[in-house]
Order: sequence, then C-alpha cells, then structure tokens
Amino acid sequence: MTKSNEPVKKAISTLSNSPFESAVGYLKNDVPMWITYLWADSYIEGSRWYQEFRCHRDGPIPAGSSSDLKTAQFEFFKDQGLSQTDAMLDIGCGCLFAGESFIDYLNPENYYGMDISPSLIKAGKQRLGESTMREKKPSLFVNADLKFDEFYADKKFDYINCQSVWTHMPRELIQECLDNIGSVMHDESVFYPTFTEQPIDRPIETQPYNYAYYPEELIRMAEDAGLSATQLDVEYPNEWASVLEITLSE
Ligand SMILES: C[S@@+](CC[C@H](N)C(=O)[O-])C[C@H]1O[C@@H](n2cnc3c(N)ncnc32)[C@H](O)[C@@H]1O
Repeated sequence: MTKSNEPVKKAISTLSNSPFESAVGYLKNDVPMWITYLWADSYIEGSRWYQEFRCHRDGPIPAGSSSDLKTAQFEFFKDQGLSQTDAMLDIGCGCLFAGESFIDYLNPENYYGMDISPSLIKAGKQRLGESTMREKKPSLFVNADLKFDEFYADKKFDYINCQSVWTHMPRELIQECLDNIGSVMHDESVFYPTFTEQPIDRPIETQPYNYAYYPEELIRMAEDAGLSATQLDVEYPNEWASVLEITLSE
C-alpha cells in the first residue's frame, strides 16, 4: 500500500479491531452456533447442523485450514511410517482437504473417510473428481455416531487419523470414540487424535464448538477403554495443538 493510502489502512485496521467487528463476528458465527447446538437433540446432531450451515454459507473448506496444515498431516503420517499398502481411517475427514493427499498416496481401496456432514462428504467427492474416485476407490461414509460399525466387522486399519475433531467434541463423545475404536484396530495399529491442550488459566469448555483438555485426562480415558496412550513430543498439527499416540494395550 502506498503512503497516500495510509489513512485508509489505519481506518480499516481500527475497524477490524473494533467492537463493531466483534459484534459482526458474534452474529455471524456465535449466534448460529448456539442456536444449532441448543436446538439439536444430541451433540452430534448439533455438530452436523452447524457443519451443514457453514458448508452452505462459506463453502466446503474448514475454518482454520491452510495448505500448511494439509502438508503437516501428510508429512506427520509419513514420518510415523505410513506406506502405500497401509489402510487408513480418517475420522472427521470433512471435504477431504487433507484426505486428498492420503488418497493420492495410498494404494486403491486403502482410504476410508467418515464425517457427520453429508455436504462435506459430497464436496470431498467433487474435489477428487470421478476419475480419482474410480481409480482410488476411497470409501466415504456419513456417520451418525462413533461406533465404527459402518465398516464390516473384520476391517482393521493400520493408521487412524482424527485431525481437529476432538477439538470440537465433549468428553462423552471422546469416550465413545475411545470405547469403540479398538474394534477397527489390530495389534500394530496406531491412532493419532489431535486436541487442543488445556491451558491452566482458562475454563476447560469454552463454547459449544470448542473444547480443550488436559493430556493426562485423555490418556486416562484411553486407558479406561483398554488402550495405551502417550502424548507425542512433536509440534503437530500446529503450535496450539497436541497429538496422542494410541494403540491397543498389550
Ligand atoms: C475442523 S474440521 C477438520 C476436518 C479435517 N480433519 C481436516 O483436518 O481438514 C472437523 C471435522 O470433524 C467433523 N466431525 C465433527 N464431529 C464428528 C463426529 N462425531 N464424527 C465424525 N466427524 C465429525 C466435522 O464435520 C468436520 O468436518
């Protein structure tokens, strides 16, 4: 911006930090969010309505997604040993923003994605296009719970991704996820859920859409479900979040 535009730039930056902008943000995001969650019969139904609403309003890109986050997910799994012959389950795959990289890399029929939002799954199929859908044959499901029974009983995954999903889940749903995930794991499977780590000076549940947890609490919940969990010492998926590595207990 040239020097003559400085007053305009200053006015815009003042406005964007103003109570006016906060009020617009509140009306645009918080009000519909509260309405959907309070109206819905269950938390999952509230999440589905909210995702559907956002997908229709803003298009099928999850807020906060960036190409860095997409690359970070793929690189992280490659670092953990993901190979083309592995079978992967992607919980909360959304519009396949990151799923696309996994589908491209994995052998045909090895990627399974699930999400509560029909619109995001539809957008994911469109993102891939017919030829990739035909060639790579990913299995994409719309789920209504976290029982994983959409998958035939003996399906086991080598790697399970769950990126930025527990960040939007209350404790009961995380426990449901942990209680059932073992049914799609074998002895060598690894499950990597990311979560927002609870800072000491904030309330644990900030609003219906965002949750933060102490790692010790999640590890204990995994152990209660008969799993082993450790927090990885890596900066993944970004500097605000953390990741657990979960396996079946020996
Ligand atoms: C922040 S987005 C992350 C999307 C994707 N993992 C990524 O990194 O691009 C959270 C996703 O989780 C999905 N989701 C929320 N609750 C879910 C549930 N109980 N089961 C499956 N997906 C869920 C949402 O619909 C949304 O697509």
